Amino acid sequence: MIRPQILSSTTALRVVPMACTMGSRTFATTAAFRAAANIQQRTTAQHAAAASSSGQTRSESSAAGSPLTKQDAVSTVPQQPPTFTGDWLLFHPVYKADEVKAVEVVHQVPTKLSDRVAYRLVKLCRWGFDVVSGYKAKPLPADAHKMTLQKLREDGYVLGPDAWLNRFLFLESIAGVPGMVAATLRHLQSLRLMRRDNGWIHTCLEEAENERMHLMTFMTLRKHSIFFRALILGAQGVFYNMFFLTYLFMPAAAHRFVGYLEEEAVRTYSHCIQDIENNLVPEWRTAPAPQIAIDYWRLSQDASILDVVYAVRADESTHRFVNHSLANLNQKTDVNPFAIREPDMHTKGHKISFNRDEAATYVEESRQLLERQSKTGTEA
Ligand SMILES: [Fe+2]
Ligand SMILES: [Fe+2]
Repeated sequence: MIRPQILSSTTALRVVPMACTMGSRTFATTAAFRAAANIQQRTTAQHAAAASSSGQTRSESSAAGSPLTKQDAVSTVPQQPPTFTGDWLLFHPVYKADEVKAVEVVHQVPTKLSDRVAYRLVKLCRWGFDVVSGYKAKPLPADAHKMTLQKLREDGYVLGPDAWLNRFLFLESIAGVPGMVAATLRHLQSLRLMRRDNGWIHTCLEEAENERMHLMTFMTLRKHSIFFRALILGAQGVFYNMFFLTYLFMPAAAHRFVGYLEEEAVRTYSHCIQDIENNLVPEWRTAPAPQIAIDYWRLSQDASILDVVYAVRADESTHRFVNHSLANLNQKTDVNPFAIREPDMHTKGHKISFNRDEAATYVEESRQLLERQSKTGTEA
């Protein structure tokens, strides 16, 4: 069975080239390895054909206009609708219309000291960033209907598109760090200890790429200044190292921290959606979605920025659910319950996490699902 790169629904089954164990039961897929090898062969052949037909030498390839040189770091997908591309991406869900509306603002109540510290830390970070970025999220005054949109923005009740984008760009540049750090450390641990990873690495990598795609999407809507780049550079340097050390010694606390960070992300994007729908960001009400977002989330060709923000919020809700669930597990021994499939948004958007027993049940259901599938030879 081929592991699909993009699924039409979050409920669909995904199969990864790994063995998942729960107790004495083991299931593995070798077909995924063969499929991956085929894809690799095809890609190599395509590159060879392209090089041969263009007749380019190595020195010529660095010249302007070379297929190896992309001036635009965003547009790696062709801009010709309605052809979708993006098979170079890791797994990520594609949402149905009702799924993106199913996301709610929910909260994991801290029970342990490390949870409380993680929660307070996230709240502190959020407060600091709100102050710096001028985000107040305060309720509209009673006489808001008498105020112009300009006045509401000046008084800090409402953010304009540029202010929203500054916020999104900074947050997404940070949000892409934890998944990559977690995947790196788990990968190295697997090499060091010469044992399997129980399916955690892929999920962490998928989250990192998903966050980076959020950044790539919003980058198409706003040019960033040198000062903004410097800010991101400094923040990344500090955050990467702090998160690396935290994950090295306290991986559960690190996942909990990310879970709380994602709670804030869902809150922020929900606020943005509410403002767009209340016509407080009229510039975005019907503005077209960037092509990269249409390709990535398989949106309709007439999708708007509002549709993009809905999709991003659904992603953040997934990160919230996944990280809080992973934080509930034994980091050394437990299987990642989301290595094979994920619940749909009606669960991930409403429920804050799986506890350890629920995770074990979900893994067992996945195993039975694969077993049935292998008997019938059908896809789940
Ligand atoms: Fe994000
Ligand atoms: Fe996220």
